[in-house]
Amino acid sequence: AEGDAAKGEKAFKKCKACHTIAADDGTVIFKGGKTGPNLYGVIGRVAGSTDFKYGDGLQGAAEAGFVWTEEALTEFVTDPKDWLEEQGFEEKTKMTFKLKKGGEDVAAYLASVAPA
Ligand code: HEM
Repeated sequence: AEGDAAKGEKAFKKCKACHTIAADDGTVIFKGGKTGPNLYGVIGRVAGSTDFKYGDGLQGAAEAGFVWTEEALTEFVTDPKDWLEEQGFEEKTKMTFKLKKGGEDVAAYLASVAPA
């Protein structure tokens, strides 16, 4: 289903304990924690490719050159460990959070916070 970016921006409050969204020049778009990687421009970006120290699963995704799409991100946030397993990557992740619903909205919001 197509996500709603405005709804996703509201739902992103569930992610902000661990994720900040900051542009390449340092401008903070969504102030959050740093337990997880910066999610600026994550849609269209190779998974596990920021300076964050990723777990084995996302490191494998990075080596495979896996690129985040809205669809993949929606599935990932529903159950990160399960998603890694389904994709054939090691099912080891530092992200223990699971989003029950609205993943497609968050994905649409994240697609909107990216370089022009
Ligand atoms: C990784 C999204 C909530 C902690 C990631 C990645 C995405 C993501 C897309 C992979 C990033 C990349 O490949 O660079 C989200 C969204 C959330 C959410 C949309 C809310 C719906 C959380 C929460 C926590 C968290 C609440 C902490 C309790 C992490 C960590 C990683 C991660 C530690 C790195 C995982 C690893 O290296 O295995 N998240 N996240 N996330 N997230 Fe989240």
